[in-house]
Amino acid sequence: MTGKPRAFSGIQPTGGIHIGNYLGAIRNWVLQQDQYDNIFSIVDLHAMTLPYDASELRSRTIEVASALLAAGIDPQRSILFVQSDVREHTELCWILGTLATFGELRRMTQFKEKSKGSERVGAGLFFYPVLQAADIILYDAAVVPVGEDQKQHIELTRDLALRFNNTFGETFVVPEPDIKPAGARIMSLADPTKKMSKSDPDPDSRIELRDPPDEIRRKVRRAVTDSGAEVRFDEERKPAISNLLTIYSLFADVSIPELERRYAGKGYSEFKRDLAEVIITGLQPIQQRLDELAANPGIVIRTLQAGAARARALASAKMAVVRERCGLGLPPLD
Ligand code: TYM
Repeated sequence: MTGKPRAFSGIQPTGGIHIGNYLGAIRNWVLQQDQYDNIFSIVDLHAMTLPYDASELRSRTIEVASALLAAGIDPQRSILFVQSDVREHTELCWILGTLATFGELRRMTQFKEKSKGSERVGAGLFFYPVLQAADIILYDAAVVPVGEDQKQHIELTRDLALRFNNTFGETFVVPEPDIKPAGARIMSLADPTKKMSKSDPDPDSRIELRDPPDEIRRKVRRAVTDSGAEVRFDEERKPAISNLLTIYSLFADVSIPELERRYAGKGYSEFKRDLAEVIITGLQPIQQRLDELAANPGIVIRTLQAGAARARALASAKMAVVRERCGLGLPPLD
């Protein structure tokens, strides 16, 4: 399309998007839009791997797409589509599943965490990373901008791409993860040893993109802090304040040493009061665009339809090559 390297990333339409998703992934997608040939997907098939409510999935898909558009994903510069609208993802997932091993899938941290304590562990949850690998290599993505928690899945993706190439001949680009040093692991406001997560039962552990200003002020005020009173970055000894400093620094675009200087001799409460305002100001334009899109869902649906058509064209051309390499289907008539 443009000669630029291709970037692919995805997000699940489960629950409200939080500032961890925003700072770890979405914000980087938006900032890097001119650097790459971009494809972003709302991965609804992945969202089926844990029990879910079918009547809500479609509305969540539209909500997440709206949030991405509101955050600045520009359909002129990026393909934005819903994963299940492009059937080739599931076809390639099957093919890659024949190359993946039981042992490597069993070792996936996310699988171990999400299956912990459940009596019935769906095979879809086990196969989840294979579908993710298919998402990425189907488009020959070179770069995958994600948060830290996805690193292991991208490593598996690289292994599967290499294994396919070694087995059937050079076919796929082997992608690199793009994980930023700051913001790739935003922690829970209620417990700085856990990552901020959509599935955390405590809604005060995360700030969602749609939270109104007073809700943000309340959540920041209640956020856990460390002992002592000094606003200083030290992930070992002060994990809670270090997390809040990271959030402040990214929203305000001010370095952490500069923030430490500004808040030297001031207590946590003044720091937290300012932090809430910085988050509110950062989210305000996104929330305004979200309101505009909510009044006009047709725009979002049409954008996703157009995105799916563009993604399908790329995916079907790639799968024609893959089928041939694997010996699937009929030979051409001569
Ligand atoms: P998902 O929907 O859980 O999260 C979307 C993106 O947000 C990042 N993220 C975080 N970053 C920093 N701090 C946090 N606390 C935090 N929580 C989430 C995630 O790393 C991710 O980048 N398996 C993926 C979806 C997926 C995908 C793909 C991603 C499916 N196919 C292909 C990349 C490429 C997931 O569950 O993301």
